[in-house]
Formats: sequence, structure tokens, C-alpha cells
Amino acid sequence: MRIVVIGSGGREHALVRALAESPSKPTLWAIPGNPGIFELAQPTGFDNPLDTDSLVTFCRDNEIDLVVVGPEAPLAAGVADRLRLEEIPVFGPSQAAARLESSKWYAKRFMERYGIPTARWESFTADEADEAREYVTTHELPLVVKADGLAAGKGVVVASTRDEALAALDRMFSGGYGDAGKRVVIEDFLCGEEASVFAICDGMQYTLLAPAQDHKRLYDGDRGPNTGGMGAYAPAPIVTASLLEQIEQRIVAPTLQGMVSENAPFVGCLYVGLMIADGKPYVVEYNVRFGDPETQSVLEVFRGDFARLLYSAARGRLDRSAIVKVADGWSCTVVLASKGYPGKYETGFPISGIEKAQQLARVYHAGTARDAAGTLITAGGRVLDVTSHAPTLADAIERCYRAVQCIRFENVYYRTDIGARALRTQHLLEENQ
Ligand code: AMP
Ligand code: GLY
Repeated sequence: MRIVVIGSGGREHALVRALAESPSKPTLWAIPGNPGIFELAQPTGFDNPLDTDSLVTFCRDNEIDLVVVGPEAPLAAGVADRLRLEEIPVFGPSQAAARLESSKWYAKRFMERYGIPTARWESFTADEADEAREYVTTHELPLVVKADGLAAGKGVVVASTRDEALAALDRMFSGGYGDAGKRVVIEDFLCGEEASVFAICDGMQYTLLAPAQDHKRLYDGDRGPNTGGMGAYAPAPIVTASLLEQIEQRIVAPTLQGMVSENAPFVGCLYVGLMIADGKPYVVEYNVRFGDPETQSVLEVFRGDFARLLYSAARGRLDRSAIVKVADGWSCTVVLASKGYPGKYETGFPISGIEKAQQLARVYHAGTARDAAGTLITAGGRVLDVTSHAPTLADAIERCYRAVQCIRFENVYYRTDIGARALRTQHLLEENQ
């Protein structure tokens, strides 16, 4: 099998790794890739995945069997539609199906139409700014103010005071998030524990990977601003077997069915971001691609032929026999970021200690580059993801942090409590059994 992976982050490095280690032994290319990815995949000779003419020509010239799209932007831009038009199998949804992520307003109305549990909400355009202000001044706090469009994980404000909510509205309506903020969705705050569930979908059928939990806040104790994700672990003990059944029956199956009814069948990874409140699952967000950094952990515990799984889904004939086990042991991922992320940060610092860390865990490149002399340097907000595997969650966490401590670069920042709450949940669940 010959596969092209689109993207350049830690998630794509993990996807490429899992594809490379698949028993079907595919040959791999990446656009635009990163230094870690290029240890396992070849460059295509062009860097912009939105250049669909070059992409199609490359796929034809190289007899590509499958394109796997990592990030949401190319999906929202319709890259999968163009590939399908050319009859090139692609793992990733159409532009119409990608609206589940690219428009929070669409997603909310979709959930309303199909009775999928989610927080109560209202939506306002910039022209309705006065009504929006009135809404946040009269509704119970906290409230969650969301820019409708794609905002790289930064378009959501959990406001615990009216001033915060009003400031968020002002920022969004005044163009602080570009077109993404021209409409806002204001949601009731759901109090509970979050979990991410990934469904591999072929349009009609789906199969779930191990449930995971992300740590979106910047600081320990889940404080500070939201980020793209500072760490994750899988499987998430909060998602018990009976909860998973509810998630499938009330959320995943009706979502796929709903997308068929909308004439936008979903092919790809449907990421359901959940809040578990009073033992019941509610959708906090849909994403139309694998989560970053959850994927690093989810694929660490996956056993089977990942390449065959994605290929079968892309061709509309999901092959569940490609999965041997969705969760073998436990995995923890810690993100090493540049100090200042998700705001301003400096880059260009040399990175050392990766080989030593690799004796304990995998090290995925998220924001790295090579300088003119070939030295690996920092080149992004999230720089590296360290992903461990162990027979218990406690061991996975401990091993991961031992590996993290081997790595050095100036201005490194990471959370020190990834998975800590899960350990407590796990103990509680065990005590209650
Ligand atoms: P989103 O991009 O919609 O997933 O939102 C980012 C993060 O904001 C989520 O992962 C949650 O931590 C938080 N969040 C979003 N919506 C809600 C909600 N209705 N209640 C509580 N927290 C939320
Ligand atoms: N980790 C959250 C996301 O991928 O959106």
C-alpha cells in the first residue's frame, strides 16, 4: 500500500508511526511533514496540501492508494472532495461533513435536529451584538462563549463573570478571530469530566478506538488558558463499558445516521469531545479528524493493522478484522511546549536528549525544525510529545515523566500532572466495584 499523510504535527507523526508499523507495511509520504515524520516517510516535493492540483498529480504519478488527512483546515477547505472526485481513496470527510467542526452553529443545529445530547445554547451574529450582551447579562454563569468558525482551539472562552463574557463577545464581534467570530454560540456551562472518543467511520459503519482524555488547560490542576492540548492518556477510566454503550447509542450512531440524512456521510475519524455530567455523556464539540495529542496515546495502545483499517474505511467497507485490540495496556503523553504558548513564544533553541528519552518512550515531533547545520531546534508552540506505554496507568505516567526529564531545550514548559486525576478516578472506580 502507498499512503500520503497530510499534516506536520505530533498527531501526524503518531499516525505515520502507526501506519509504518502496520503489518501491511505501507510505503509512506508526508506533506508538509516534519523532521520526525521524515525518519519514516518521504517528502513529496511540494509543501502545500491545499495545492490540490499538485496533490492529485503526485497521487497519480506515484500510484497512491490512500491519502490520510491529519488537520481540519484542509478538510474544511475541501481537499477530500477533490481527491474523491479524482477517485483517489481518502481518509477524511468532505467539506460538507467537516462542518461538524468548522461551524459550531451548524454542529449545534445538527445535534438539535437529531436529538443528540449537548449543552443548551443560543447563537448571535455581529449584527445582533446587543441581544448577545443582553443574553450574557441575564443568564446564569458560568457561560461558554464560542466563535462559530475554526480558531485553532482558541475560540472558546469559559466565562465565570459577566465582564469576561462581555469581553469575549466584544473580541469576537470586533474581528479578533477574523471571520470565525462573526457569529458566536453561547452555551450553558456543563460541569463534569471530559473524555474524547474517536470513531473510525466509512460513511455508514463505525468502530471505536480507545477512549482518551486530553488536558486542554495550560497549567497544572486544569487552570489557565485553553491550549490545543498539553497531554493525554488512554484508555480513560472514566469511560466505563456502560458509559461507552450510552455514548454509542445516543451520540455516535445517531451522528453518523444524521450525516447520512444530511447527504454528507462521514468518512474519516469522528472525534466526539464529551463532558460526562452526572454519569451522562454530552457533546462539547465535534472534530472531524484525530485529536492532538490524544492520538499519540490512543495509537500507542492500539493493536492491529492501522493502515488496513483506514484504507477499508476510506473505501466505504470498514474492516473491523484489522483491529486485534483497541486498548492493550496504558499510555500517557506529555506535551513539551515553548514557554509562552499558547501566546507568544520564542523558537530556534537546540533540542537535546531525545535518544535517551527514546529508551523509555516514543518522542513525537510537533514543532521542530533543522537549522542550516542540521541541528534539531524548536520551531513551534508545542515542540515534542513524549508517549509512554506500560501495563498500568500509574506506570505509564511515571515512565513518561522519566523520559520527559531526559529532554532539554531552553524555555521548555510542560504540565507535571498529566493523568493524575485519572489515577484518582481509577482508584474510586475500583473501590466502588
Ligand atoms: P471546544 O473547542 O468547543 O471543545 O471547547 C474547548 C474546551 O472548552 C472544551 O474542551 C471544554 O474544556 C470547554 N468547554 C466547551 N464547551 C463547554 C461547556 N458547554 N461546558 C463546559 N466546558 C466547555
Ligand atoms: N486535543 C484537542 C484537539 O485535537 O482538538
